[in-house]
Amino acid sequence: MPSLVIVGTQWGDEGKGKIIDYLAKSANMVVRGQGGNNAGHTVVVGDKKYALHLIPSGVLYNNTVNIVGNGVVLDPEGFLSEVESLQKDGVDISNIYISERAHIVFPYHKEIDALSETKRGEKQIGTTKKGICPCYMDKIERTGIRACDLLEKELFIEKLSEQIDKKNEIIEKIYKAEKLNKEQIITQYLEYAEKLKPFIKDTTVLVYEALCRGDKVLFEGAQGTLLDVDLGTYPYVTSSHPTSGGFTIGAGVGPTMIDEVLGIVKAYTTRVGKGPFVTELDNEIGERIRIAGHEFGTTTGRPRRCGWLDTVIVKFAVRTNGITGLSLMLLDVLTGFETIKICTHYEYQGEIIEHFPASLNKLEKCKPVYKEFKGWTEDISKCETFEDLPKEAKEYILAIEELVGVPVKIISVGPKRTQTIIRENIF
Ligand code: IMP
Repeated sequence: MPSLVIVGTQWGDEGKGKIIDYLAKSANMVVRGQGGNNAGHTVVVGDKKYALHLIPSGVLYNNTVNIVGNGVVLDPEGFLSEVESLQKDGVDISNIYISERAHIVFPYHKEIDALSETKRGEKQIGTTKKGICPCYMDKIERTGIRACDLLEKELFIEKLSEQIDKKNEIIEKIYKAEKLNKEQIITQYLEYAEKLKPFIKDTTVLVYEALCRGDKVLFEGAQGTLLDVDLGTYPYVTSSHPTSGGFTIGAGVGPTMIDEVLGIVKAYTTRVGKGPFVTELDNEIGERIRIAGHEFGTTTGRPRRCGWLDTVIVKFAVRTNGITGLSLMLLDVLTGFETIKICTHYEYQGEIIEHFPASLNKLEKCKPVYKEFKGWTEDISKCETFEDLPKEAKEYILAIEELVGVPVKIISVGPKRTQTIIRENIF
């Protein structure tokens, strides 16, 4: 299939980076369509680990075109430091393009993100403090500054100057904090503008032409379904649409141009930040998963909350993304557990619930209904086919397929590219 969307089915951090990178080797183009450098993909090539935040994972392949689409909010500081560190590692960065319509993150966005989190006190969302929400707020308010504005110096200075004044008023009057230095920001961003210039293009044309040519285009989702501002666990969500529909706007392609949607699902569940988590294991089992799965944020380093696989969530993701296949990640992390559990339903005030509820108050009171599976002790990190896996691991996978109603097409048994079992070629 020439166009494939990759989405996280849980709260992000499902291991999308590895699969995107794996599939990127046969892609002509990799496209980001939402979020910003709140995302973090860790990609392992040989013995080298790359932490990518804004730049699509296809950058590690020489002939892949990488697009930062219009739905992304771009922090120039983050982007340029990523470019610099890739260059140091000898990675070719000439195939990266930023949409001229992408909104730009400024220091006041980050400042207001941090200040508003502090002000929320107990009700903190646990944001990455990368300025994501304040930047999207400006976009919706229609006062944001876009990449194309960076190319028109006088107008850019005028717009930025006006924004800094406005934000400084908010910073001083509402948050009682120190205002930001206007001249310093303008000088800094004029420098960034010069550096970003060669990357800025109308990326909708590049993506459209690639699709018309029949090129293989991979749409790289960041975060996960439950962090979608419309569909996720609102308000504990990010401010964009990390679901498949997000690409139709965030990359500027029509829905008829997307062929397949691959949902990335961890063999268990994790989440960072606040909010209810029905299968959370706030005990030594959760700790064991955290250590074995290296469950600490790529962007923030925060320990992730861990729990058993929740198929109420995965079914919700299958439905809302139109998922056609799953990639099951980090299965090796479950090796050695005597018993493994899968949540099949929730129990809410004595009633069995099948569908993921919108109300967090209700979700908070939901209890997991589990199905238990026998674990395995064999090392699966060298398995190359489904048949190589221990009987119990196969049973676990088949149960997931049955519970969520879509096939598990890829299984990951370790961080390296080679530790990937392909059950069905999809790209
Ligand atoms: P923000 O995107 O920084 O505004 O944070 C909003 C929520 O989304 C917080 O709970 C974050 O921890 C979460 N979040 C944002 N990006 C990611 C990600 O890439 N993985 C997991 N959680 C994320």
